[in-house]
Amino acid sequence: MDGIDTTTHTTAGKLATRSLEFLKEVKDFTPGKALEERLNRDYGPGNPYYEDFRRLLKQGFEEGWVATGDLDNGKYRRGRIQLPLPENLYMSLTCVYFDSEAEYAGQYHKHPYGEINCVIPINPTFQLEGLPVGENWRGAGWTSLGPGTHHYPRSRGGKGLAFFFLPSGRIAYDVDPADPQPISV
Ligand SMILES: [Fe+2]
Repeated sequence: MDGIDTTTHTTAGKLATRSLEFLKEVKDFTPGKALEERLNRDYGPGNPYYEDFRRLLKQGFEEGWVATGDLDNGKYRRGRIQLPLPENLYMSLTCVYFDSEAEYAGQYHKHPYGEINCVIPINPTFQLEGLPVGENWRGAGWTSLGPGTHHYPRSRGGKGLAFFFLPSGRIAYDVDPADPQPISV
């Protein structure tokens, strides 16, 4: 599965349209801590983009086209919604589903160009971890990890979705957790 057909899945089409509008607003910012703070300040719960992403992703999950690829017995599922395209400013759209009360770690990975990640709790207690490790658990809101960062995607507190944008769709799984994090200037 590498992208959802937005002509047959109209909810996915609406999500793609709203994603492009959102991306046009943030396209000149580099993923990382400053963007994360900006997103949580200006685009958190109550913001029309956040609310539309939450509504459309939950609807899509019910419709069965969100996070369809099972990676761990239903606890960790991932699916790409759109490849990087001119229509999304070359930012891929992906959604991951987590279901674990205890802290749970998904596949270690690196974001060569960073990531922008919308955290959508299904259970209100759900949290996803940003960076630094152990210091940045997020409920409803956003994380944004800078270019070259790598981490275990960790969740806790039940069921939730992580909806994320990757510049050029870039993500790398062949990374050693012992590698240093990038130097930030
Ligand atoms: Fe990540």
